[in-house]
Amino acid sequence: MTGFSIGRRAFCAGLAGTMLARPAWGATDTLVAQKASVQLAPDGYPATPVWSYGGTIPGATIRMGQGDRLQRQLVNELDVPTSVHWHGIRIDNAMDGVAGLTQEAVPPGGTFDYDFTLPDAGTYWYHAHTNSMEQVARGLSGALIVEEADAPDVDRDEVLMLGDWLLDPDTGGFVEPFNHPMMMSHGGRTGNLVGVNGRYDFALTAKRHERLRLRLINSANARIFVLRLQGMRGWTVALDGMPLDAPEEVSDEIVLAPAQRADLIVDITADEGAPAGLLMWMDDDSWEALAEVKVSGQSATTPRPAPAALPANPRTALPDLSEARSLDMVMEGGAMAGMESAMFEGERLGFRALIEKGQFWALAGQAGRTETPFADLALGEVLRIRLENRTAFPHGMHLHGMHFREVRADGSFGPLRDTILSVPDEPLEIAFTADNPGKWLFHCHMLAHAASGMTTWINVT
Ligand code: C2O
Ligand code: CU
Repeated sequence: MTGFSIGRRAFCAGLAGTMLARPAWGATDTLVAQKASVQLAPDGYPATPVWSYGGTIPGATIRMGQGDRLQRQLVNELDVPTSVHWHGIRIDNAMDGVAGLTQEAVPPGGTFDYDFTLPDAGTYWYHAHTNSMEQVARGLSGALIVEEADAPDVDRDEVLMLGDWLLDPDTGGFVEPFNHPMMMSHGGRTGNLVGVNGRYDFALTAKRHERLRLRLINSANARIFVLRLQGMRGWTVALDGMPLDAPEEVSDEIVLAPAQRADLIVDITADEGAPAGLLMWMDDDSWEALAEVKVSGQSATTPRPAPAALPANPRTALPDLSEARSLDMVMEGGAMAGMESAMFEGERLGFRALIEKGQFWALAGQAGRTETPFADLALGEVLRIRLENRTAFPHGMHLHGMHFREVRADGSFGPLRDTILSVPDEPLEIAFTADNPGKWLFHCHMLAHAASGMTTWINVT
């Protein structure tokens, strides 16, 4: 890895990049999974052979209106089977894109017609869900934005797909193998180059007092982004697509686990030429610009009043816990904690035997997805899950098809989410009303963990 330090500095030093024109979604209704060559690393380094939707990293942003019908034919031009998951959409189960559970993977040369309605406005994303650990790392993801009929009054609406790539600086290619035991058993695959919308040097231009909506999407395989605002005053207005009841002023760090989203409304407060943007926390405890906002000119002489809440999405009532079913899910395994044994493919295996089968983690005593679901729920039933993280690592746990809420220790509910960060030794509880029939995956979104034990599913009939 000579010439490539962990972090962005090696790339940023003395190297200037050019802005990439944002690809617009064309009139075509296909989504082509294809190989391409993209300049991810700074100029002077080789281009990266990627797998992409439509030849760009990320894939083109799909923008639709709330209630619209989304139709896209996946055309698989890769040499391997693939499928598309529409992350966070409360979708028709047959369109959920999970190979082996909701559809067969689409073979090379094959197609699949995705066709579903978009019940909720908000910030979502789409990504491969066949061998996702590798396919997402190679570039198969894009943003899916569902606009409110009554959108907030902002000067600009910007999608920021945060990601990272683990590249070999000599070849520009992805470091292989993707299923390296070291990555699977530790924090997952973390990149040595961080960026936004496929650019390590992503920047925006804005005027002082302009109001921007920033739609942050963590599309990284395993990296948890810890962010701060600089030269901007901001409010969080939605999490994982779902509007908060009231905007919350950003006074602290914003933590985004893999797959999580945050919609911010920010007002540019920096003076012309003064530093502004999103800062990210670095491993060496410093803060570095992740997305720079270049301030030039002034749009108004005074700041605006705080933004109003976004219009609420449908079916967002609090779950009724009075007759809820309660289940425990102990999370165990991985380096530095391990586990005694777990069930795998119907057999009880010790940790060593599990490792030999590529299984490092277990959810509720089970490594990997089973024939029978973790929970079999009747439509409308309320489920509480107590997550107890006995591992040495954080995990971003994601439920397909439905959003849930954290049930806090004092009995109050957290905001609606589809992915929640679980940290070691801090048990947490989530609850949701099973109002969407189908087979729904529940898994860690550190994709190497999902592939090595941390995947289960819930059935709703
Ligand atoms: Cu973002 Cu199972 O997925
Ligand atoms: Cu995990």
